Amino acid sequence: MFLNDQHQTEQKNWRNRFIKIDRDAPIGVFDSGVGGLTVAREIMRNLPSEKIVYFGDTARVPYGSKSKETIIRYSRQIIHFLREQQVKAIVIACNTASAFALDAVKDELDIPVLGVIEAGARVAAEETHNKRVGVIGTLGTVGSGIHEAFLKHLDPEITVIGKACPLFVPLVEEGWLHDPVTTEVASRYLQELKQQEIDTLILGCTHYPLIRSTIREVMGQNVRLVNPAYETALQLKALLAELDISSSGTGEEEFPYRFYVSDLADEFKDFANSILPYDVSMAKKIDIEKY
Ligand code: DGL
Repeated sequence: MFLNDQHQTEQKNWRNRFIKIDRDAPIGVFDSGVGGLTVAREIMRNLPSEKIVYFGDTARVPYGSKSKETIIRYSRQIIHFLREQQVKAIVIACNTASAFALDAVKDELDIPVLGVIEAGARVAAEETHNKRVGVIGTLGTVGSGIHEAFLKHLDPEITVIGKACPLFVPLVEEGWLHDPVTTEVASRYLQELKQQEIDTLILGCTHYPLIRSTIREVMGQNVRLVNPAYETALQLKALLAELDISSSGTGEEEFPYRFYVSDLADEFKDFANSILPYDVSMAKKIDIEKY
């Protein structure tokens, strides 16, 4: 009874923190580059009334080989910028930043913030039959062991096999999504995982769904590939509903989706247009070091 009361009080305090949020404000989404577009795409599909402000840190990509301190500093700068854009919630659409910075920033904020790791771990725990789950991601994400911690928490019998694939991000940023070089690199990285009899593989970097067909070709049809983007969008939808801050859906916006980057705005715009169900007319370069 006491525990229940305590839980209800905690829930109430948590909700009270977000009491003055404007439901028609946009959602802030960020990544080191184009990878987070795979999450933005699912938000567009599953929460069509929500507006988005996207930031891709194209000047400082990749994040995966940088230290935790650096990623926390970058994330704080980006969150500062997104707050200036009056966002009502933030999705860290980057596994590396979710692994390194989510815990550090979430208590500093008066708006809700979500990462992408929990959603992926949940799906994988539900999908695996033989309880052998692979995780591919950046050096930072795999080295953090965060997927393993979540999966073991959900089901202590699950064995987690991690493999860092640092060359995938530059290949995706280069646009080599269907290229023999990408297939060759994937074959080398994934060989080890193929011998481990995993039945489920988490795409633990938001860039990787963009080379999903190559990963599928190498891993074969019997391994389930988990893309956390869809589940993250659903988690966001549930969170907005719970806090009663879902968009009212009223009012036509000329630009419901706005895109900002720290470098190479035109290249980013072209890439975004090739994968989003939306015509991106502009991406704006900003000086993120000012924040
Ligand atoms: N897309 C990011 C992730 O999910 C970051 C990749 C990188 O910049 O290294 O980890």
